[in-house]
Amino acid sequence: MHSLPWFPDRSSWLPLMLSLKPCKGQERTEATSIGKASRERSHSNRHQGTRREWSLKAKNWRFTYSEIVNITNNFKSVIGEGGFGRVYHGSLTHGIEVAIKVLSSSSRQGSDEFQNEVDLLLGIHHKNLVSLFGYCNEGGNMALVYDYMACGNLQQHLLADRSTNVLTWKERLEIAVDAARGLDYLHNCCKPPIVHRDLKTSNILLSEDLQARIGDFGLCRVFTTDNETHISTDAKGTRGYVDPEYYHTGKLNRKSDVYSFGIVLLELITGLPAIIKGPPVVELCDWVGPHVQGKGIGDIVDPRLESYNINSAWRAIEVAMACIPSIAIQRPDISYVYDELKACLKMEMASEKPQIMEGYQTWSSSSIHTTPLDPKVEMHHTC
Ligand SMILES: Nc1ncnc2c1ncn2[C@@H]1O[C@H](COP(=O)(O)OP(=O)(O)OP(=O)(O)O)[C@@H](O)[C@H]1O
Ligand SMILES: [Mg+2]
Repeated sequence: MHSLPWFPDRSSWLPLMLSLKPCKGQERTEATSIGKASRERSHSNRHQGTRREWSLKAKNWRFTYSEIVNITNNFKSVIGEGGFGRVYHGSLTHGIEVAIKVLSSSSRQGSDEFQNEVDLLLGIHHKNLVSLFGYCNEGGNMALVYDYMACGNLQQHLLADRSTNVLTWKERLEIAVDAARGLDYLHNCCKPPIVHRDLKTSNILLSEDLQARIGDFGLCRVFTTDNETHISTDAKGTRGYVDPEYYHTGKLNRKSDVYSFGIVLLELITGLPAIIKGPPVVELCDWVGPHVQGKGIGDIVDPRLESYNINSAWRAIEVAMACIPSIAIQRPDISYVYDELKACLKMEMASEKPQIMEGYQTWSSSSIHTTPLDPKVEMHHTC
């Protein structure tokens, strides 16, 4: 398999990302935690509704630089930092929260090019994509204004060293389904189709109720960067996620995103990062092959998962493996991946339903439980 030796170890970034503000949901009310919020997915969240209406109204919103300074309270709160610059928390009137990506000087491009690409991205709205609803392009200051995603990025949730608040198998499948739906929209519903080019767990953001949305789509079109975490020639992407065919040939197509999606799926299944720290340093795509062939499900699936349906897990592993052949045409379309993941979720949900037999609660025999079956103990922890 391919190895990409030209990237520095991004693990040095992780402490910064993990030290971000706690999930907003947790801050506001003690009773609301990440896991609990997910099980109470509300489709009638009034605040979200207001925000969505507002963000649609605010389409094509152009901000002046002094407005950006005001909204971010003079760049007071840094949410994170990536290859294009820092991301700040901001508040608009009516308490609408936003995330503002202020572009570093190395990632800025010509004002006209910026305007053209941003105009294209402003028109794209989908429930599984992070909405860009404003920008600043004034005197060399360039910034993008996004919907604020209160629960941060998926990488933080998967890699955080916490024995509590571990995402359950069902939550992971829901996130995978959401992300696949968002990617399907970019690939198959946008005209012209949009290839993300940098799909990874840090670009999958989570709302208060753990709904996943893909961020930074189209960003590689909007900005250039010579940051060493990105491939600075024709190919763009992040180490561990880059389609080997794209890397070697420079030919980009939708299947490059499918490869990256396969790696994201493997991270959800195994709980391991795309680059496993050494020594020796191993890419997840290289780690997983021998494990799938020679080992049992317990050697592949994240050991922190307390219970999951085996058939659902195997099917998800098969889907992930189907996404990562080194030859692009052997990979499926994302719409197939989306359908398969929905089927995995359905299997998991069906097996979660307790069956009442002669007064005893039992669970499907194809489910693995790593905790004793005690009616007093909840099978899925509440975080
Ligand atoms: N809309 C948003 N809402 C909440 N947090 C966000 C939002 N956008 C970005 N962030 C946070 O800021 C961090 C940095 O984002 P950024 O996109 O700049 O870097 P990255 O995704 O880590 O790497 P890359 O630059 O390669 O995309 C993200 O990991 C995420 O935690
Ligand atoms: Mg990003």
